[in-house]
Amino acid sequence: MKLTGKVAIVTGTSPNIGGGIAGGLADEGATVVCVDVVEDNARQCAAWISGRGGQASGLVCDVTDEAQVEAMVGRVREQHGRVDVLVNNAGILGGMSVLDMPLERWNRQIGVNLTGTFLCTKHVARLMVEQGTRGSIIVIVSTAGHQGQPGNIAYCTSKSGLLNFTRAAAMDLARHGIRVNSLTPTATDAEESRERAVAWGRPRPERRAGGLLDFRKMAPMGELPSPRHYARAAAFLASDEAELITGIDLRVDAGAVAKYWPWIP
Ligand SMILES: NC(=O)c1ccc[n+]([C@@H]2O[C@H](COP(=O)([O-])OP(=O)(O)OC[C@H]3O[C@@H](n4cnc5c(N)ncnc54)[C@H](O)[C@@H]3O)[C@@H](O)[C@H]2O)c1
Repeated sequence: MKLTGKVAIVTGTSPNIGGGIAGGLADEGATVVCVDVVEDNARQCAAWISGRGGQASGLVCDVTDEAQVEAMVGRVREQHGRVDVLVNNAGILGGMSVLDMPLERWNRQIGVNLTGTFLCTKHVARLMVEQGTRGSIIVIVSTAGHQGQPGNIAYCTSKSGLLNFTRAAAMDLARHGIRVNSLTPTATDAEESRERAVAWGRPRPERRAGGLLDFRKMAPMGELPSPRHYARAAAFLASDEAELITGIDLRVDAGAVAKYWPWIP
């Protein structure tokens, strides 16, 4: 158990990646606060963790609203007295090309992915500094933050912004002993998330028809990661085992970003 005694906030706890990371941190002994703008995602994730014998609670919060973020961190402080780990996972996926993207949609995607991460980091880090907590902050990026993906202008821009947000925040917080690292997921095997949705009492999500790209075939390791693979990497970054690791990006992408681009594995 790597995280016994630690209190972790995870944002964006749908049955997909956030739910997987929240469950993985709880499995390592953390008390997890599941935060989402959608009440069912916060509540059902916490209930699922509690049902597996873990410690969890759910809070509703829009990470783009500073007053809500401050109130959320205040509630965690009241309930648990401290925060040791923050996983900035809430995000809006999907997109459009630079030619078509409406300003309103651009602003919302940048607002959630980039500004939401800034606001949660700011208020959690302030509490850590005040309490002298040598905490760990994790930022969920994407391989789309490392590469130029067509038809995804705001997502790619926000995710690459998060890579350097991570380094700059790591420098701001280094003297307080607070570590900031990013974790890069990629196209994710959907089966585990479907199982989790069913375990939360939801209808089994339909398999999405394959697009033009065969992600699995193009991954050097021949398989795509599942949320549990991200959860193990997040648990490591959150733990004292990573005590001198800050400002890095840990890619859990089956080799995708390292690949020589014309090579078809
Ligand atoms: N799914 C993938 O293949 C993939 C690949 C690479 C990176 N990622 C990243 O992983 C993270 C999770 O992705 P996912 O696939 O689980 O997506 P998802 O849509 O299932 O989950 C995103 C969660 O964020 C929440 N959210 C959205 N706006 C919010 C707000 N304003 N305040 C609070 N919560 C908000 C949503 O309600 C949802 O629960 C995202 O940051 C995404 O960019 C996903």
